[in-house]
Amino acid sequence: MIKISPSILSCDYAIMGEEFARMEKSGADWLHIDVMDGHFVPNITLGAPVVKCLRKSSSLPFDVHLMISEPLKYVPDFIKAGADIITFHIEADSDIDETIEAIRNGGCVPALSIKPKTPASAVFDYLDKIGMVLVMTVEPGFGGQSFMADMMPKITEIRQECKRRNIKMDIQVDGGISDKNIEIAASAGANIFVAGSAIFGADDAEKMIKTLKEKAEKAFQ
Ligand code: DX5
Ligand code: ZN
Repeated sequence: MIKISPSILSCDYAIMGEEFARMEKSGADWLHIDVMDGHFVPNITLGAPVVKCLRKSSSLPFDVHLMISEPLKYVPDFIKAGADIITFHIEADSDIDETIEAIRNGGCVPALSIKPKTPASAVFDYLDKIGMVLVMTVEPGFGGQSFMADMMPKITEIRQECKRRNIKMDIQVDGGISDKNIEIAASAGANIFVAGSAIFGADDAEKMIKTLKEKAEKAFQ
């Protein structure tokens, strides 16, 4: 199923709760929360206490994207804070199987992300243990960067591997997604779309979410 997950990295941080409620009203399916530690990526955003407060502003699934060096250490905090899907990076320092297990044992969906330079095959050993793969289409760290179309073959490779092994998988794309390129990502095999600047920068967020969804639905097969 196609889902749109607005990235709060581009929202007005002074009124985050209102921004979340606005996204829910505008037709968002999930809410994408970018957590950065200033170590795994050269930027710092927010931690579990903020997520806990935001939990009151929306009932949509919280799609938490951990761009941090030690995900295993912080997973329990994000579970308690109300996360639903927890994505961590295969390039991070924590043990991958242990982190997946901690997320699943906490009742959340575990997901693995790969940075642009990491090959698709890096996630193949984990496909039967996770619910989603996130293929980054920018170097993680900042919103508003350009979409890397050369990541599309990786999405297709993962989609084909899942089909071959009969694994049901969500494939998420994150970075530079807009109404200009969402079709390319959907036709490559992605079905969950993160968009920050495209949605928060739009005059009419509801219209933008609808356009993104329609385009993705048409292009995804
Ligand atoms: C980048 C983050 C993305 C980012 C997307 O490191 O993971 O979620 O906020 O923002 P846009 O859509 O503006 O590239
Ligand atoms: Zn993200």
